[in-house]
Amino acid sequence: MADGSFSITTPIFYVNDVPHIGHAYTEVAADMMARWHRQRGDDTWLLTGTDEHGQKILRTASANDVSPQEWADRLVRDAWKPLLETVDIANDDFIRTTDERHVAGVTAFLQKLYDDGYIYAGEFEGYYCVGCEEYKQPSDLVAGTGPYEGQQVCAIHSIPVEVLSERNYFFRMSDFEQRLLDLYESRPDFIQPESVRNEIVQFVKQGLRDLSISRSSFDWGIQIPWDPKHVLYVWFDALLNYITALGYGTADDEAFRRLWPSVHIVGKDIARFHAVIWPAMLMAAGIDVPERVFGHGWLLVGGEKMSKSKLTGIAPSEITDTFGSDAFRYYFLRAITFGQDGNFSWEDISARYQAELANGFGNLASRVIAMIGRYFNGVVPERVALEPADSAIDALAVSVTERADAAVRAFAPHDAIATIWELVDALNGYITDQEPWALAKQEGQRDRLATVLTTALRGLGTVNVLLSPVMPKATAKLWAAIGDGGGVHEQRIDQAPSWSGAAQVVPLDGGLFPRIEQVEAAEQQVHA
Ligand code: ME8
Ligand code: MG
Repeated sequence: MADGSFSITTPIFYVNDVPHIGHAYTEVAADMMARWHRQRGDDTWLLTGTDEHGQKILRTASANDVSPQEWADRLVRDAWKPLLETVDIANDDFIRTTDERHVAGVTAFLQKLYDDGYIYAGEFEGYYCVGCEEYKQPSDLVAGTGPYEGQQVCAIHSIPVEVLSERNYFFRMSDFEQRLLDLYESRPDFIQPESVRNEIVQFVKQGLRDLSISRSSFDWGIQIPWDPKHVLYVWFDALLNYITALGYGTADDEAFRRLWPSVHIVGKDIARFHAVIWPAMLMAAGIDVPERVFGHGWLLVGGEKMSKSKLTGIAPSEITDTFGSDAFRYYFLRAITFGQDGNFSWEDISARYQAELANGFGNLASRVIAMIGRYFNGVVPERVALEPADSAIDALAVSVTERADAAVRAFAPHDAIATIWELVDALNGYITDQEPWALAKQEGQRDRLATVLTTALRGLGTVNVLLSPVMPKATAKLWAAIGDGGGVHEQRIDQAPSWSGAAQVVPLDGGLFPRIEQVEAAEQQVHA
């Protein structure tokens, strides 16, 4: 990835089930960062998609009496693509592991590794968790309870593991142990956050085994090119999406050459696949390793990792139907330190919606526009003589912009939003202190009134440009009232403090964040 370009990915999600807010969280985080970088003027690419092969999908499809391809098509059409609408994702591509382009790239990659001696045939026996799609060590297992009393179950999925004994193909992952450790050492922020990095370094230091990468007991997967009775292990298949989507292994690999290596945003549950197996695969093929692997935390519901298999899953639309997609995006990006776990609650989102969005940002916008309407017929007046309080707002707009940009570039969207809120709060405080409604009643204060309202409007415009990656809809609505053409998403971040708004503001049609009834509805839901 060249300077001035920003290529970012989400995991590709399993289509055995419909999305929940954990999946939406990853999408929103990656999308916010991609939108921000687009507004920095970077050549930006956001990739997402679906992981459709493997035993988990095959079994779900069989249980529903359809072919795995039909099942995947249905889930992608009815659930996974609609998720992107629900939470307003502006992705540049959507890759499915059943796409022909993916299969072609994977096949080329495998053949290369085989020809270069990185793949060999061997015997294997081990415990396999279909939930994880991963072989397990005995230390990964716990004693089952309830229906699984007396059996060994996966500690993550609480379902029994299966003993698999097969002749299959292996990837020489153990060859890469030292090179991986060197990578982690020479590029300390290759894996983030620190907690995930430490765990992975410890894991690799304990020694890597070769990885079993094929299965012959079922056929829902990509065929091994030199031995079509075998299909490729689903993780080896899935990880390759990040380069097959860019055209790797095909005649048209311009995007691959321009945009790789990418930044991978994943949940910490799968950071190890991305920071160990994946770079080892790339090293074997002589391809650059990813730019970075960021393993974010888990959304917890009632203190437990939210998941469909444990019946704590919440559909994103349950939240967006009440609060809208902007509030969904804002809430999860602001309330959770990116990289740490965070607890979701209806009370918390309701409280932040009311205090920060409706009363904070929304009210600021309504007040400023209404007063310019009332006192100047909507015509934005010239500022006259700046007092220290006005200059302080101007200076804060510059500093907030710089610090928010640094935070996004450091993968800290929560910090970026908290920084932007310094300006929201300062503007609300400024209006309270300057009392434009009082100035409007005083003789000889017309210039002062003009200066205060235009200073507030300029600050509001800065906030609006900076919040566009977080809340595309509300900021577009506000831009229609105060902007000067184009879309707010086209406004440059670095110019946010010096934006030039329209000569005339128009009234906001309703507030930015509709109030009360919805929040009350949400509160009822809490008690239902
Ligand atoms: O693992 N909190 O797909 P998957 C936060 N197909 N994020 C969560 C979450 C939670 N409670 N639950 C899920 C797979 N996620 C593979 C990936 S990539 C080459 C292949 C998010 O459908 C988070 O991003 O199980 C996590 O890593 C991902 O969903 C797992 O999605
Ligand atoms: Mg999973």
